[in-house]
Amino acid sequence: MSYKAKFRVWRGEGGEGRLEDFTVEVNEGEVVLDIIHRLQATQAPDLAVRWNCKAGKCGSCSMEINGKPRLGCMTRMSTFAEDETITVTPMRTFPVIKDLVTDVSFNYTKAREIPSFTPPADVKPGEYRMQQIDVERGQEFRKCIECFMCNNVCHVIRDHEENKPAFAGPRFLMRIAELDMHPYDTVDRRDAAQDEHGLGYCNITKCCTEVCPEHIKITDNALIPMKERVADRRYDPLVWLGNKIFKR
Ligand code: SF4
Ligand code: F3S
Ligand code: FES
Repeated sequence: MSYKAKFRVWRGEGGEGRLEDFTVEVNEGEVVLDIIHRLQATQAPDLAVRWNCKAGKCGSCSMEINGKPRLGCMTRMSTFAEDETITVTPMRTFPVIKDLVTDVSFNYTKAREIPSFTPPADVKPGEYRMQQIDVERGQEFRKCIECFMCNNVCHVIRDHEENKPAFAGPRFLMRIAELDMHPYDTVDRRDAAQDEHGLGYCNITKCCTEVCPEHIKITDNALIPMKERVADRRYDPLVWLGNKIFKR
């Protein structure tokens, strides 16, 4: 069964833009990205959208649908009423290149600022021996498809451009937490998490967890445990005393 849907799509580039209205055919089983493609094919051939896999796995098609960060390829049209106007806008936290395509290089800059996994020099690849529980703990975070919707939705940078230099965002604070949990990682990540990557800015609103298409429990399993490990280090009276004595 097909019907005509009302779409309102953000069009623009170079810092200027507007919402443009369309009426467009929808067929059974389609997702929002299908409709964007139909608009390209029939009414707006220069409409820019980034996508790749159409299977929820490449993280390219992040956009805001009725104000909520979503993957265009995983948002079924059947979740909306047929007479509803569907508004599609680019991710708000990153600069727009054109139409629905944003410049997400902020995220790659943040990724590069995190020292990579650093095993002990005397343990060779193939010699790592880990408890199953340590393997499983990290596995959840490896499901990340780097859609950057968690960074897009976090109010610390969504509403405050000025915080961007000091805040890595939930995706990369999660990466630090993952590395810090790794039994073979030798880099001390706790002070850097707080002082260089802005862990203290996170006030546990959990919006990042709510939007994650991989259902990673970013806040409960990465950010809060990392905050606890930082607090253990900084506010444990024995550690404090030890630092005082040995740093003199
Ligand atoms: Fe996307 Fe989830 Fe990865 Fe964030 S943690 S980038 S929301 S997949
Ligand atoms: Fe932001 Fe997630 Fe913390 S949305 S405030 S990083 S819990
Ligand atoms: Fe790959 Fe949507 S196109 S996640």
